[in-house]
Amino acid sequence: MSNHSNIRELYRCMGTNVVEYEFDDDSVEDWRKTMDEQGFSRDDVLDQQNRDLARRFVPSAMSSAIKSICGPSGPDIVIIYGLPLSEQDTGFFSSTPPGLLPEDAIAELALCGVASAGGLKAFSYDQEKDGDIPANIWPVAVGKNVQSSDGNGDLAWHGDGGVLSWPLRPPVLMLATRYNPSNTGTRIASIDAAVSRLDDDSIEILEQPRFRHHAPTTFNLFGGRLIGSPPSPVLERDNFERRIVTLSSSNTHADTPEAERALQALHDAADDVSVTIPTDPGTVVAFSNLRCLHARPLFAGTRLLQRLYAAPSLQALKAASIEVRPNVFAVEQLVLQ
Ligand SMILES: [Fe+2]
Repeated sequence: MSNHSNIRELYRCMGTNVVEYEFDDDSVEDWRKTMDEQGFSRDDVLDQQNRDLARRFVPSAMSSAIKSICGPSGPDIVIIYGLPLSEQDTGFFSSTPPGLLPEDAIAELALCGVASAGGLKAFSYDQEKDGDIPANIWPVAVGKNVQSSDGNGDLAWHGDGGVLSWPLRPPVLMLATRYNPSNTGTRIASIDAAVSRLDDDSIEILEQPRFRHHAPTTFNLFGGRLIGSPPSPVLERDNFERRIVTLSSSNTHADTPEAERALQALHDAADDVSVTIPTDPGTVVAFSNLRCLHARPLFAGTRLLQRLYAAPSLQALKAASIEVRPNVFAVEQLVLQ
């Protein structure tokens, strides 16, 4: 933990609440062995047995922290070190074509288990990454300037699902690193910290419905047509009156040069208050996708992250969409809400 505590300190200086936890090596080994003995597969990530098992191995302080991300005063970011990974992970990704994963699915089971122990339900959108839970984030479009998780270019500040109204967006994102030889970090900026650096005029503009957010290229909608939100604000408040943000990097468009300048000021402020979180295999960064923006610097080579969308309740999604498979929602209805 001592290697990592500077991240917490850096964020604290910028007014961002971050907590860190580390799995104990022995309990990770026990957990991995038990998953193996149970013969779980990737199909069991949402299974009750997997969730019950996770509850035995995820320390209660860790689960409480994850649960509180969506609460009235919880942390914006929870960093977890030492998630159980497949024993085959070492060497596997460097010698195997992208897209293949060890079959035991230990990391996927553990990631979904951690979310579940934290009272969160893992889910996905059918038209994004085939609805996989969790989804693999590989740079499949290397060298192309793709403004999405499919590329390896500089990915500007955004929250995931920005084209959707906020109650239908993933409130929590969990990013687990499986393979990261280029040591590419993930940058996260808390919106409270960023807004504290803005002048009142910019804040006022960002609170007005003067921005349209388009769906990213990872959302395969309506035969590839460009889908945009109605004019919406960038800054809003959630049910606890906490400030939340809607920004889809290059997919957010302002209505006037004045609003464009306010948007640019927010991008700059996010740069100022962000920290690059280095992620070794087994590190999980869980954070509020509503109160934080994230970005990724240009990187060379490859990296595999597994991304989980998680929410305390799926009621709003169930009411607004069709659940095509357990916890997988058709996104087209949601975009039109
Ligand atoms: Fe993202």
